[in-house]
Amino acid sequence: MPHATLAASRLPHSGIREIVDLALSATRPVIRLEIGEPDFVTPRHITEAAFEAARVRVSYVQTAGVPALREAVGERIQRTYGVAAPLEQVLITHGAVQAVDALLSAVVGPGDEVLIPDPAWPNYEMQTTLIGATPVPYALRQADEFQPDLAEMRRLITPRTRVIVLNTPNNPTGTVLRPEVLAGVVALAVEHDLLVISDEVYDEIVFEGTHLNAAALAPDHVASVFSFSKTYAMTGWRVGYALVPAWLADTVTRILELETSCVSSVTQAAALAAVTGPQDAVAHMREAYRARRDAAVGVLESAGIDLVRPHGAFYLMLPLPDGTDSRLAALDLVSAGVSFAPGSAFGRSTPNHLRVSLAASEASITDGLSRFLAWRDAGGVRAGAALAGEGR
Ligand SMILES: Cc1ncc(COP(=O)(O)O)c(C=O)c1O
Repeated sequence: MPHATLAASRLPHSGIREIVDLALSATRPVIRLEIGEPDFVTPRHITEAAFEAARVRVSYVQTAGVPALREAVGERIQRTYGVAAPLEQVLITHGAVQAVDALLSAVVGPGDEVLIPDPAWPNYEMQTTLIGATPVPYALRQADEFQPDLAEMRRLITPRTRVIVLNTPNNPTGTVLRPEVLAGVVALAVEHDLLVISDEVYDEIVFEGTHLNAAALAPDHVASVFSFSKTYAMTGWRVGYALVPAWLADTVTRILELETSCVSSVTQAAALAAVTGPQDAVAHMREAYRARRDAAVGVLESAGIDLVRPHGAFYLMLPLPDGTDSRLAALDLVSAGVSFAPGSAFGRSTPNHLRVSLAASEASITDGLSRFLAWRDAGGVRAGAALAGEGR
């Protein structure tokens, strides 16, 4: 009988999907706060540009992206972060997903190690596992405001380490890395000759402080990943981009060629309109996320919950009492009419947190959190802990 590789068969199922499926099949309405996807529609001028592009011949285009788009996003990086972004080092990808995948595939081999934030967006661990390499989690703890511990990261580096993954603003914590922490991680990478894959897909969704681009600190040691998905509410269009070190650009381009040949010219026309057109929708969405963050923090703090105020992205980590199993709590909460992603879906460091997505209306967020508080006050948390104790 043919069989899947050991690495592929080890890929875990998504702990978020389990909640999505349950919420979708629930018999009474559920307030959906588990999904990490903007609830806005793509601005009209972007969609119009795609229609225009689709009216002419739609054919294969350059693997690394159409030059006009590469130039435009390169200029944006240069203008925003003061980092040189020459066309040859800017690659258009099938979402940030493909950029991360191609970068890891380019520099990591079987048996290598990759330092990955914990909690984190699950793809880093999955892609590393699929390569046959070992994901090495570095903890982001609530007590440290979800900032990494540099001394711990240093201890985790071995001769097999190839990559450090950074994600700022972070999914699922909403944390924006402090400048000194960012500089410390990049210095570690330079010292050990590692590549930093810096996932910056939420760079335009920062409420306090400034988003810093890691590539500015050590251009040969950092590959930065960006996306249109979150900034312009374009998740379904599947377009992202990366600024990669000169030595890596050709290798990654060959992987993109193998994987997808090119990103659709229609999608790239839409992306070009997004990055060169009016940016007021970006500011509007950022302000909406900020207002929702403030509303959510207000509801939870008034209920005596001690949380870390997120400074970016559109997530918030809601702590449950020690010993609560976040998966069981999230499953139970669906029957109480609200869905959250369990912290356990993002790693091992947040087993008793729930990720609250702010990609829903302010009314849904406050109603959903009220349902959570009613569940908590009715002893729901204890039920979760008891079930966890039974090893279910
Ligand atoms: C941290 C992070 N990186 C990358 C992605 C994927 O982005 P894209 O839609 O561009 O593939 C996500 C999506 O949720 C994310 O949260």
